[in-house]
Amino acid sequence: MAVRFLDKYAKGFYSDEEYSRVKELLVPADAKLRAESDVNEYKGWYGLPFDYDKEELEEIKRVAAKIQKDSDILLVIGIGGSYLGARAAIEFLKSQHYNAMKKDTPEIYFVGNSFSPDDFADIVSLCEGKDISVNVISKSGSTTESAIAFRFVRHLMLQKYTDAEIKERIFVTTDCKKGALKNFADRERLKTFVIPDDVGGRFSVLTAVGLLPIAVCGADIDEILAGAADMKRRMEAQGIDNEAYRYAVLRNVFYSQEKFIEILVSYEPSFRSMAEWWKQLFGESEGKGGKGIFPAAVTFSTDLHSLGQYIQDGKRCLFETVVKQTEVKNELYVPPNAVDIDGLGFLAGKKLSSVNSKALMGTLLAHTDGGVPNLVIEYDKRDERNLGELIYFFFLAVAVSGYMLGVNPFDQPGVEAYKRNMFALLGKDGYSELREELDKKLSELGH
Ligand code: PA5
Repeated sequence: MAVRFLDKYAKGFYSDEEYSRVKELLVPADAKLRAESDVNEYKGWYGLPFDYDKEELEEIKRVAAKIQKDSDILLVIGIGGSYLGARAAIEFLKSQHYNAMKKDTPEIYFVGNSFSPDDFADIVSLCEGKDISVNVISKSGSTTESAIAFRFVRHLMLQKYTDAEIKERIFVTTDCKKGALKNFADRERLKTFVIPDDVGGRFSVLTAVGLLPIAVCGADIDEILAGAADMKRRMEAQGIDNEAYRYAVLRNVFYSQEKFIEILVSYEPSFRSMAEWWKQLFGESEGKGGKGIFPAAVTFSTDLHSLGQYIQDGKRCLFETVVKQTEVKNELYVPPNAVDIDGLGFLAGKKLSSVNSKALMGTLLAHTDGGVPNLVIEYDKRDERNLGELIYFFFLAVAVSGYMLGVNPFDQPGVEAYKRNMFALLGKDGYSELREELDKKLSELGH
């Protein structure tokens, strides 16, 4: 058992009645999750740890080995669910400094997740004189950020490689039948991987979307799937009171107390991208119809020196979920000083991990004293099994939590609003009426 959920530090923050009242929503939420559904309900992630395309998994490993052999750099083009999971996993398993570290696997850069020319130019300059492979990932095949980045990257590839070489270096992950990217890949005879129809972007890290880039960094993707399968098995064996569901119930208890912000807290900088992935998973799944807990994240002790003041002492609309790691990869001991100039001589010879865990405990007690309930999710270490367990734990929790809140956790209707405005302002065909409306608003604002 790698991942555990602990609610003992939050006990004084809710009554048994409050818990039972919210828990009543759990049985129908669980039934909804388990109910047979059609492909448009996007519940394909639920069975994924067991029910995946075994041949495709072998193909992912083969292509990952080819990319490792052929490339100094892998460029991963994608946005939202089409990149956050892979980035999170690579940093969690290897390091936030993965690219700068000495290794025999390619550097991996993520592009197409913004429109920033400066950021893209920086990455292009990193590619100078290097051998590149590309994994372009888009379920719809038409997301503007990734489509524009793919144009730039193809341009870069055409300057370096022949058409035949390019076919060996561009790998496409997209829908199995439809979309602009699928059509392009078929026309150019590029190697493709499939995003299953019934798996939405933010739930796709256990498909080729996440697994191909993750395998390129040298991680064992079988173990990640095995971790997710273990978590599914264990939660099912625990029944309706399982740990993921308890987390979901308590989130909704705090929400009913007008604690609208959940802060995911980690004490490991290499967890930072996991928190970005978690923010998308929870924010896009729950924030709709005027409802939802706002997902925020901090890394301590770093952010204790910035946001610590607010959390301790600001508006009491927060609760924290602390993700606690119990084993480190490399232990370090605080060095002695000949002269105790900093007054920290009492720490000499102590494990740095123990300073980190005392900081965690001290902060947790201070924040609960300050009126911020703390939930804790413990995992052993930054390895594939723990990663798979964590991913599936959060999938289960957000699915039932969303249903309990009364929203559909698998759609994202609000994401379209900015795109419509952007296309209108860029002059896309069919948007002229909206453009007039927006131009008027902007001119009133002095543009
Ligand atoms: O979770 C989601 O559905 C989104 O974040 C998408 O993953 C994101 O918008 C990218 O979409 P696509 O994969 O179609 O390019």
